[in-house]
Amino acid sequence: MSTEKLSANSYSIAPSILSADFARLGEEVEAVLAAGADIIHFDVMDNHYVPNLSFGPMICSALRKYGITAPIDVHLMVEPVDDLILQFADAGATYISFHPEASKHVDRSLQLIREKGCKPGLALNPASNLQLVEPLIQQLDMLLLMSVNPGFGGQAFIPYILDKIRAARSMLDEHKLSTLLEVDGGVNLDTIEQVAAAGADTFVAGSAIFGADDYHQVITALRDKISTI
Ligand code: DX5
Ligand code: ZN
Repeated sequence: MSTEKLSANSYSIAPSILSADFARLGEEVEAVLAAGADIIHFDVMDNHYVPNLSFGPMICSALRKYGITAPIDVHLMVEPVDDLILQFADAGATYISFHPEASKHVDRSLQLIREKGCKPGLALNPASNLQLVEPLIQQLDMLLLMSVNPGFGGQAFIPYILDKIRAARSMLDEHKLSTLLEVDGGVNLDTIEQVAAAGADTFVAGSAIFGADDYHQVITALRDKISTI
């Protein structure tokens, strides 16, 4: 990847279904895709790695059976990870990311994702150092930087993460990698510009999108904010 600025077309909007209406999940996912979303962000919480419980592989496979063909970006906030990697690969996941602290053998878990035909990613908590992923950077299709502590939607963006986004962008550019640089947590109309300017290309937004009355309007407004960056 060059050091040229990414064009607006390189940006992906990834609504987090954690903030969707679960009683109408298929319709909600269809609606955000029709409204211009690129990727569906799927937050898996186990009440062990994070203090909250969400949904598992059955819901992912239900979305595929419902007819969702867009990439599903599974963000595992679980410990351990390997068994759920296998289950999510079978359930139709596209990307599978996990937190390196949650696997005893991170390289093996990444290989498992690749062997099962999915795209591997690593997710870093706000307090986790970027150096943790440097030896593995060539193996990643996605680097996910958390800009809140994982476990809940609707939290405020942590501003010091901007430095980590800039450092991650430099690291990926130095290695000439086109790995997606995804930022997750507190991304909304007030914060997306600085996140894009720091070098992210994939934007998770849960409450900002599903909390809006008009999904098309909010996704268009998010894109407009970054169209000139
Ligand atoms: C938090 C999750 C996020 C969350 C983002 O643990 O990983 O994906 O849903 O929600 P917002 O966009 O509301 O901060
Ligand atoms: Zn997430």
